[in-house]
Amino acid sequence: MLYGIGLGPGDPELLTVKAVNIIKKSSRIYVPGEMAADLVKQYTDTVPEILDFPMIRDKDELEKIWLKNAVTIANHAKDKTVAFCLIGDPNFFSTFTHLKKVLKEVAPEVEVKTVPGISAITSCVSQMEEAVETSFEVHDGSDVGYMIHLKARKPQEIIKKFEKEGYNEFIFAEKLFSDDEVIIKGKENIPEEGHYFSIVYAKK
Ligand SMILES: C[S@@+](CC[C@H](N)C(=O)[O-])C[C@H]1O[C@@H](n2cnc3c(N)ncnc32)[C@H](O)[C@@H]1O
Repeated sequence: MLYGIGLGPGDPELLTVKAVNIIKKSSRIYVPGEMAADLVKQYTDTVPEILDFPMIRDKDELEKIWLKNAVTIANHAKDKTVAFCLIGDPNFFSTFTHLKKVLKEVAPEVEVKTVPGISAITSCVSQMEEAVETSFEVHDGSDVGYMIHLKARKPQEIIKKFEKEGYNEFIFAEKLFSDDEVIIKGKENIPEEGHYFSIVYAKK
């Protein structure tokens, strides 16, 4: 089993209890850099192994490195609990997303889960002593490819609007992480009405 674990934005007190518990029970821990390694070391005696993900343009060379890292992880994650820990959240602008894709190709038998971490996207505002009170965009220079709509009381109306903007994959979620959690994939299965604690996730 491989866990992709978000370590939060850098403060060792901003890891989740779940992240710390999995770090403690992992027989191997991989990290993409020193910052993540230093955070992990505060919670375990297992020495984190730094995997190199160089920022180079040579695609063939890059593929080779991704493959080598995925095989290294897969060899241990087949029968042991292994953690790949990174700064922020493992599903936002993250090395882990591509790693997961390569791993699925080379070792589909390895189960993969992610543990959310406090992302720079939300935590920066707290540290700046600011707030966000309206819709907002997050950019890294690439085209916008996702939308997250909060307070999705009328999910089908939201989906219709997103479809006009080119979105074609939809997930509806209610009361996430609770005993009453609902996650519905696919436009045709999503209801007309939603609870206040609901979200529509849309992808192009
Ligand atoms: C590849 S993204 C990774 C984002 C990460 N997965 C997350 O959820 O926070 C890296 C970018 O996130 C931002 N970032 C991450 N941690 C940060 C921090 N502690 N302070 C400021 N910016 C940060 C920077 O813009 C950085 O270039």
